[in-house]
Amino acid sequence: MPQDRLVQVAAQTGLGRRVACRFCADGGPDLLVGDRLRHGATLTGGPASLYAGRVKDAHAYARKPIEELYRWFATEAGPTSPTWAALCRWIADTPAVSERLDALPGAKRQPNVFLGALKYHDGPLVGGPELIAWLDAHWPEVEATILSRATQTNEPGRCAVLAPLLASLPQPVALFEVGASAGLLLLPDRYRYRYDGGPIIAGREAWPGAPVLDCAVTGSPPASPADLVVVHREGLDASPLPADHPDEARWLRSLVWPGEDAREARLVAALAVAALDPPPVLTGRLPDDLPAFLDHAVATADALGATPVLMHSATLAYLERAGREASQAAIVASGVRWVSFEGGKVVPALYGRVPDDGRPHFVLGLDCEPVARCSPHGGWVDWL
Ligand SMILES: C[S@@+](CC[C@H](N)C(=O)[O-])C[C@H]1O[C@@H](n2cnc3c(N)ncnc32)[C@H](O)[C@@H]1O
Repeated sequence: MPQDRLVQVAAQTGLGRRVACRFCADGGPDLLVGDRLRHGATLTGGPASLYAGRVKDAHAYARKPIEELYRWFATEAGPTSPTWAALCRWIADTPAVSERLDALPGAKRQPNVFLGALKYHDGPLVGGPELIAWLDAHWPEVEATILSRATQTNEPGRCAVLAPLLASLPQPVALFEVGASAGLLLLPDRYRYRYDGGPIIAGREAWPGAPVLDCAVTGSPPASPADLVVVHREGLDASPLPADHPDEARWLRSLVWPGEDAREARLVAALAVAALDPPPVLTGRLPDDLPAFLDHAVATADALGATPVLMHSATLAYLERAGREASQAAIVASGVRWVSFEGGKVVPALYGRVPDDGRPHFVLGLDCEPVARCSPHGGWVDWL
């Protein structure tokens, strides 16, 4: 990002200063040295090893009464997954099950994690005596899955919104994603797209079996996904999921709610694309490991003559407010182009800047500016 743009952005966000030195003062974790860190290998040695597997626990999931969490989740899931909605209401009214879930630590009380584990272990998906008996028999393995895994839903449908924005930047781009999960959003040039039921638009690297990502559009898209040229892709995640590992793919499929069949089919097709050439996803945590990752992004893009893009989607929400602000400050100071895809109250610079139109939505941002209101999974977009 040119210096004048940085100053402009910093002024808009109220940051008003470069923060890189603050982060660099103690020396960042030695994240990005050598191939041993690629493909999600666990970091060994140095402060970064402390980050692997750490569970965020200062969250609403840790604090709210369990019945309230499951009733809330029933309303969230209701429109697309009547199965989960009915099960969550039943759990909220069934102490034999809810007390077990209440005893889980911190963020592990998140309904999505238990429901994913239930699907992962082929448990009954409806409430009743059969489920109570099944949980009595299978709780050790269900609990182990809950404790060892997290909600890492990787939604390739979001690329239908991200790709036109990425294609509008100076090409080619070097794509870096934090909170990348299995890295499915690092492959926007390998998918196919269909807007408003029109002709299929193939990304430049798409093969014939690539999923077709459908999206309803209002407003003017900034570019076509066909114009996107990705010369480098790399992710960072607290717990990367190798896309070519069948058990990790099974977990990702388990996180898709029953009834969302089209979504699951899209995920399976995207995983097949990723498995052919899995994008590298390093192990590291925001905000601590972000400055080193940003330095690496800028240097890599520079060497390739590409535009450095830092992207994140449904990830900043997992950070406390201070972590979000520190991440934003580091990104703005780094000089990368910043593409954010988060809820409307998550990115500090975008907070409250897109009027609520009554639909659950995410906000797509570019360099601290809102550019679109969109569905959380990319099914529709309003370009602003
Ligand atoms: C809901 S998934 C979103 C995955 C992907 N960005 C997408 O939109 O499909 C959130 C991801 O962020 C990761 N994550 C959460 N907190 C993180 C942190 N503090 N640092 C790095 N990754 C984090 C999780 O491990 C998970 O893979």
